[in-house]
Amino acid sequence: MKKGKKIYEGKAKIIYATSDKNLVIQYFKDDATAFNNQKKSTIEGKGVLNNRISEHILSNLSEVGIKNHLVKRINMREQLVKLVDIIPIEFVIRNIATGSLTKRLGIEDGTVLERPLIEYCLKDDKLGDPLISRDHILNFNWLNIAQLDLINENLTRLNDFLLGMFRAVGIKLVDFKVEFGFTHESGKNEIVLADEISPDTCRLWDTITDKKLDKDRFRKDLGDLIPAYTEVAKRLGILHEQSNVSAVNVTKLSSVKKKTK
Ligand code: TMP
Repeated sequence: MKKGKKIYEGKAKIIYATSDKNLVIQYFKDDATAFNNQKKSTIEGKGVLNNRISEHILSNLSEVGIKNHLVKRINMREQLVKLVDIIPIEFVIRNIATGSLTKRLGIEDGTVLERPLIEYCLKDDKLGDPLISRDHILNFNWLNIAQLDLINENLTRLNDFLLGMFRAVGIKLVDFKVEFGFTHESGKNEIVLADEISPDTCRLWDTITDKKLDKDRFRKDLGDLIPAYTEVAKRLGILHEQSNVSAVNVTKLSSVKKKTK
């Protein structure tokens, strides 16, 4: 598959065209941002870990019938994915109250929710990704009822699957954000899960200690982001238990792979 020109650059990933008009390459950067791009840094090795973790999760989702854009991982930083038109909505699912929910509504941090809470945010950095309702989505025709219901059904199944997967390795899935898009393939216009699922887009707490194993380590200046993401990868069985992946090792791994391409 020939890599073509850059067609989109986001905060954490770059999308390149390929020789197939329905497929693109998704490149994972080491850039980290928070609070709508106000806080920025580069964390060496983050992209490599997110590429591996997201590949692992999305390929497991395909096996349980949750359709997504992943075709295959190409190398340490890149995946071949289906080209989609991203729906400009961030879908957030919460199992435990924290983050913006606690700030917005005064709910105590760590409150276990009676049932999963779905929230919608408009994907618009200039507006600060504002919270929107189901009625906004329907009123402005961002999705029709059938499409929104299909996505909600997928979100519930996805949450159940991810809760179980992380619980099995001693991690609480506190909340996460996902995106969906319309595929272009053979005029089908199917809705599939896109983007990534990684410690950048989930809140993950150790079951016993509540230690944060996700991007809150960057948002809250807790440090040790790479060891936390590495711990998630090891527990999911992506990296061997004995491999001690430091930022330097991850970078080395990544450059070795690049040279052998
Ligand atoms: P929040 O508590 O800041 O609203 O975040 C809810 C979840 O969504 C949390 O797992 C982090 C994730 N998230 C993103 O992936 N991207 C974003 O831009 C934001 C604001 C949150």
